[in-house]
Amino acid sequence: MGRIRITGGIPLDGEVRIQGSKNAALPIMAAALLNRGTTVLKGCPRIADVFRMEKILQGLGAKTCWQEDTLVICARELQSCAADKDLGEKMRSSIVLLGSLLGRWGEGVLPFPGGCVIGARPIDLHLDALRTLGAEFREEEGCLYARARELRGGEIIFPRSSVGATQNAVLGAVCARGTTVIRGCSREPEVSWLCRFLNQAGGQIRGIGTSCLEIRGVSGLCDTVFHVPADRIAAGTYVCASAITRGKGILLDPPVGEMRALLKAYEKIGGQYRYKSGKLFLCSQRASGSLGWLETGIYPGFPTDLQSIFLAVLTCARGESRIKENIFEDRFKAVPELQKMGARIALDGRVARIRGGSLRGALVSARELRGGAALVVAGLGAEGETCVENREFIERGYEDISRDLNALGARTQKD
Ligand code: UD1
Repeated sequence: MGRIRITGGIPLDGEVRIQGSKNAALPIMAAALLNRGTTVLKGCPRIADVFRMEKILQGLGAKTCWQEDTLVICARELQSCAADKDLGEKMRSSIVLLGSLLGRWGEGVLPFPGGCVIGARPIDLHLDALRTLGAEFREEEGCLYARARELRGGEIIFPRSSVGATQNAVLGAVCARGTTVIRGCSREPEVSWLCRFLNQAGGQIRGIGTSCLEIRGVSGLCDTVFHVPADRIAAGTYVCASAITRGKGILLDPPVGEMRALLKAYEKIGGQYRYKSGKLFLCSQRASGSLGWLETGIYPGFPTDLQSIFLAVLTCARGESRIKENIFEDRFKAVPELQKMGARIALDGRVARIRGGSLRGALVSARELRGGAALVVAGLGAEGETCVENREFIERGYEDISRDLNALGARTQKD
């Protein structure tokens, strides 16, 4: 397992280009299976999760190649509808292949990480949506077997918002017979990007960006060249990095329109920014305030993926803040590690109470992707050297966090 060493206490001052979005790229890669031809994805992030998804597609028979940050996927001939077990188990988001496999083959097999699949595990919304379109499911030896004689349009009503389930419903509906109406959709930008991609490839989706999508089924998708959008979470991470060091920084081509909740919180703690000609200028010299209350929410609320990273910033603030995690109950995994660095955080269920102060460098361990990024950001704000173990978790979602932070003026090193 690799590590990242961070020398803390250096105010950032530099510029960095924002990588392509992980959460937009993965479902679009799955969608490429619906095109019996070639899909070209420009600006595709070169991250571990994308490489895993690429391997899964190859296992199904797709041909892929990279030209710098362009990923070419040719799904003309597929040989299998069963995703590789090891790879699928490692990546929870592989569930988004379900809609595409059903649309392309009328069947699909996906591995599942442990436990009973169809019972209490939260993929109920995915399965219910695809059942409405005519799919049937069974579970056997840790795998989910999906089948549909024919996918037919229908009315899907989501009782709760789910990004992945909305994406699966859209992927199932886009090549189904007839029209599908989906209500209660997630309005996360990554759903909109998937829909835009599908429309560019010949799909007929209306209502993009709203909670009601109307999809007229088409017989297949066509070849397309699509630009993967910039990653709002990576961009938000670097805003937090600037904030915790009370530095500056310029982000090139960040998706500011998708970052409003984060930028609002950044302003509240004293950060200032200006956006001009595709550049976000950050000025964090006064970003030392606390936040009375912050809670995560579905888009356009504060993203759960930035919760632990913003929490790290607040450990170095003046005063007390409270953060409530509303989306995933188990998203405070970085807290014990932050405490090793001297952070004063008390957890009470879904609420973290943070008393601002100072951090000191320590040996800490990443346990998941965003929590790992939070530790790196904490290291930037700490006194002395921090060493974050298990950087592989971070590499699932960041092309090279160390490279990017160094471009912003930090002193970090991988080993
Ligand atoms: C996606 C993102 C993830 C982000 C999350 C919330 C990708 C690859 N991942 O995850 O980074 O943190 O959105 O913005 O895009 N739920 C159910 N039943 C279901 C599905 C979900 O109860 O069938 C629950 C989940 O347990 C969770 C909530 O719904 O509490 C939201 O999950 P969801 O929006 O589905 O997140 P993902 O698509 O998994």
